[in-house]
Amino acid sequence: MSDAQPLDEAAVEAMVSEALAAIAVADTVADLRSVRLAHTGEKAPLALANREIGRLSPADRKVVGQLLGQARARVNEALAARQEAVAAAETAQALVAERIDVTLPVELSPVGAVHPITGLMDRLEDVFVAMGWEVAEGPELEAEWLNFDALNFRPDHPARLMQDTLFVSPVEKHLLMRTHTSPVQIRAMLQRELPIYVVCPGKVYRADEYDATHLPVFHQLEGLVVDKGISMAHLKGTLDHMARSVFGEGMETRLRPHYFPFTEPSAEIDLKCFVCKGASVGNPDAPCRTCRSEGWIEWGGCGVVNPRVLQACGIDTDVYSGFAFGMGIDRTVMFRNSATDLRDFVEGDVRFSRSMKGMAR
Ligand code: PHE
Repeated sequence: MSDAQPLDEAAVEAMVSEALAAIAVADTVADLRSVRLAHTGEKAPLALANREIGRLSPADRKVVGQLLGQARARVNEALAARQEAVAAAETAQALVAERIDVTLPVELSPVGAVHPITGLMDRLEDVFVAMGWEVAEGPELEAEWLNFDALNFRPDHPARLMQDTLFVSPVEKHLLMRTHTSPVQIRAMLQRELPIYVVCPGKVYRADEYDATHLPVFHQLEGLVVDKGISMAHLKGTLDHMARSVFGEGMETRLRPHYFPFTEPSAEIDLKCFVCKGASVGNPDAPCRTCRSEGWIEWGGCGVVNPRVLQACGIDTDVYSGFAFGMGIDRTVMFRNSATDLRDFVEGDVRFSRSMKGMAR
């Protein structure tokens, strides 16, 4: 028989009151956690008392056991109720504290803009793809043979001179930065099945000054068609369609005889003046500064593909003929958006790109 003194009701009641008082003042979930540990954990007075039950006489064991059981149940109930209340209060508080007013004005972070050259290139590609043409690409570092020889430039042609062309060392490798997109014509004819309908937009390089009207790196759009029965008329129709797609209805082109080694006959492409639309011609009262009252502006070069070039690519010139054209994209953007200084195209100021309306997709 144990000599342990049974706990009396008053002592148990004191433990419960102490626990209930602590529970009542815990006002956060974290506080409540430590209160729970202190009053229901292994070292809590009620738990310690419970451990003593074994040492009591069977009669006392029953009474004390019941007493402690009820006491612990009251504490647990109070804990659960308080837990619910405290958690609800914390949630309510968080909802207020973290409330976001979605109607407040926000500062929009600035986004970039499509560069006008990229914008026009994409647009031109769309114009040709819509007619069933393909977009062809070629490398900017090109073989001299593709850039000149295959295009029927004689070995002593002035365009090959170091002053105009950026050769890449060692010179014996005959590599250069392409001076025009025309080598892509050769690549297309060597690689593709006939008939060929391709456009090639891309960067070209020339040993030019960097000023308002020249960039050593600029962009061209090349077009090439090789098919049966192709004539100058198809070329003219294509150019007029392109002029209208970029500059609007009523625009057209004019061909002026010229010389290119790779086309015969060759022509320079003039674009109807997009400012006066020709109205300034012979009209001294309304002069046009853009076209100097000539009504036309030089746009690019074109012609019927020289049979020698077709033959160099193994194409039967008794069956096939073709046309090609090329023009500066930077220059076209300048025309279309009245940009005055080519250097703005490369200086990377997003405000310039944004001001080039109608160029982005
Ligand atoms: N490649 C020529 C240039 O850069 C333009 C051109 C292309 C001319 C196609 C005729 C045919 O000046």
